[in-house]
Amino acid sequence: MQVLIVYHSDYGHTQSVAEAIVAGVQTVLSEEGLTASSEVSVQLASQVTLDAMREADVLIFGSPVHMGSMAWQMKQLIDKGSKMWLEGALEGKIGGVFATFGGFGAAGGGVEQTLIALHANFLEHGMLVCGFPRALTGYADGGVHWGLAVRTSNHEGMPEGVSEAALVAARSYGAHVLETALRLAS
Ligand SMILES: Cc1cc2nc3c(=O)[nH]c(=O)nc-3n(C[C@H](O)[C@H](O)[C@H](O)COP(=O)(O)O)c2cc1C
Repeated sequence: MQVLIVYHSDYGHTQSVAEAIVAGVQTVLSEEGLTASSEVSVQLASQVTLDAMREADVLIFGSPVHMGSMAWQMKQLIDKGSKMWLEGALEGKIGGVFATFGGFGAAGGGVEQTLIALHANFLEHGMLVCGFPRALTGYADGGVHWGLAVRTSNHEGMPEGVSEAALVAARSYGAHVLETALRLAS
């Protein structure tokens, strides 16, 4: 199984969530005895190649929320990837999405739109996308039905970092995406 996680991060929050997703993915690969035959790669949106995306069985995209939507670095990659739509290169692959956001008070700050926009790209490519089912571990701390959403600021909008509970949710989501991919491959 080739798993590719692509993200953008300015201040490290989205990166730490990406690393926790990797841990969840690797747990499942290890449990299934697939570690040696698999590759899990984590790359920045600004550095990943389209060929790496073509070769992946599972693609997980993550972004901080910037002004109510994804960071431009993710959108730039998505636009570059449009040539793969013409090739049908991503059809049938499994996708997962995650985002971190500051929020303010009770407002989500655009995280759902961001997750949906990431989904839209995968669906346009003919991929299958994984949400975050309520029954999964960590749903209350990082799950929304679209995917993984991690809040990184407090009620006043001041940065608080990524909580351990959110990292548990991230590991759980990584495991879920991998389990789904393995079920579909069998
Ligand atoms: C340019 C910019 C715009 C942002 N816009 C939003 C926003 O619209 N909504 C929100 O909830 N958080 C917003 N944030 C906060 C970030 O989404 C949040 O701090 C995130 O966890 C940063 O991730 P990173 O450390 O991986 O860069 C913004 C941050 C920056 C730098």
